[in-house]
Amino acid sequence: MIITIPTTPYSDQRPGTSGLRKKVRLFQRPHYAANFIQAVFDCVPGKPGASLVVGGDGRYFNREAIQLALRMAAANGFAHAIVGCGGVLSTPAASHLIRLRGAVGGLIFSASHNPGGPDEDFGIKYNIANGGPAPETVTEAIFARTQVIKQYATLDTPDIDLDQRGACRLGDMSVEIIDPVADYAALMETLFDFAAIRAHRQSGFSLIFDAMHAVTGPYAIEILQRRLGFENGSVVNGVPLPDFGGGHPDPNLVNARALYERMMARGAPDFGAASDGDGDRNLVIGRGRYVSPSDALAILAANAHLAPGYAKGLAGIARSMPTSAAADHVAAALEIALYETPTGWKFFGNLLDAGLATICGEESAGAGSDHVREKDGLWAVLLWLNILAVRRLSVDALIQDHWRRFGRNYYVRHDYEGIESSQAESLIQALRAKLSSLPGQAFGSLIVKAADDFAYTDPVDGSISRNQGLRILFTNGSRMVFRLSGTGTVGATLRLYLEHYVAADGDLAMSLSDALADLIAAAQAVAELESRIGRSQPDVVT
Ligand code: G1P
Ligand code: ZN
Repeated sequence: MIITIPTTPYSDQRPGTSGLRKKVRLFQRPHYAANFIQAVFDCVPGKPGASLVVGGDGRYFNREAIQLALRMAAANGFAHAIVGCGGVLSTPAASHLIRLRGAVGGLIFSASHNPGGPDEDFGIKYNIANGGPAPETVTEAIFARTQVIKQYATLDTPDIDLDQRGACRLGDMSVEIIDPVADYAALMETLFDFAAIRAHRQSGFSLIFDAMHAVTGPYAIEILQRRLGFENGSVVNGVPLPDFGGGHPDPNLVNARALYERMMARGAPDFGAASDGDGDRNLVIGRGRYVSPSDALAILAANAHLAPGYAKGLAGIARSMPTSAAADHVAAALEIALYETPTGWKFFGNLLDAGLATICGEESAGAGSDHVREKDGLWAVLLWLNILAVRRLSVDALIQDHWRRFGRNYYVRHDYEGIESSQAESLIQALRAKLSSLPGQAFGSLIVKAADDFAYTDPVDGSISRNQGLRILFTNGSRMVFRLSGTGTVGATLRLYLEHYVAADGDLAMSLSDALADLIAAAQAVAELESRIGRSQPDVVT
């Protein structure tokens, strides 16, 4: 029976860079998750007769949230729900399912790379019919609904068995519990030359994939071990756990340290990779060679035609503004368009739908293509494997070859975490206020050429997104960007992105600290980091 529960608004339900993300305990407040889900459903057009995809990354509170969402979906008139068995779907697999099954949208329960557990993070993300994250117009409409909500609709039925594949009913809605891996693995087989990767493996090529006890474990075991034949044990930390084994499922050099150390040690496999909580990020490390995500995007774009799914070439490349310009050099050489968008995958959706871009990427370990509408960790790994199987180079040789052709964008991101929000805001405001006076000013040997607050006009629908990061460009082609994170759950995180380009005939073998030392000093000075937030060193360097 449908029941209507009275409720009152929470003021803090505006979605951030990637959905609504909060501490689990905040989600457990009375009606908190239900309010948000009802606001989402209020913004979904055409629910009668429609299908909804539901899944999550398996973190703490995932199952409770899914049971609630399914009851509410039935009470809100959806005809059909497609749910990953165990309540599990990686973000890219959910995006694929929405598209494959013609669903009107999907709910993905994840806080991505943030830690999980009763004292950690949870999140709800709504994806629209194209399979991608809801654009800002939709997330703002959802937020507006949360601010006036008075009631939500649900059923008074018991929980369903999420671990039993097959069909069941919830009120008038049919529920289909499916294998979360099968459709996704089949899609990967259409894009990549599995036979070539297997042949490369048979010639001795080895890999290690760290699933970080997050959602990609079952996907990686099926695809890398079962279908491609990499030996058992190639996938490590492959069992998803609600608290990710106490780890922080963010595949960067801090949290995937064990993988990094193994790849730098004697006897390392040829290729190492990791993915995050919900399977959309990727980290790639060759034997003795870390690949920055910005370089990875450029290398993948330059070589994608070697994989069957991209043999026709790319329509264009898109990258988020703070991502390095390495991909720009590739786009120029291929004579295809390069799009520079604000941070967050939702900005790529229109470009992919319109066929303007084929491959997209962000400096934050995200890459993907038009095969789904999310970034996709295992997709990136498979594209690397396909490229390496064709070119038969080590990762290190491939990257050196790339730099010799396109030049090198030395790049680093500094994160200052857990800053008091008001201090972070006032730092940004003060910097914004002086942007117009910066051109012509010198910081050491660096001279400011231009400075602005990045705004983006979507070329497809004309929508404008302002205040997307402060950019300072120097006459020698160096660049720094300041922005505040939109995914954190405690205080504010200031991200500082630093980049220095050296052309193909320049010094391609500097250390990052040498290449970027002047820029780091300039950043400290221009933003008055020490006096404003009391920090002289970042918490995380990636
Ligand atoms: C971060 C990354 C961004 C990514 C997002 C979701 O957002 O910087 O590139 O799209 O996570 O994975 P931020 O915390 O910077 O707002
Ligand atoms: Zn993620």
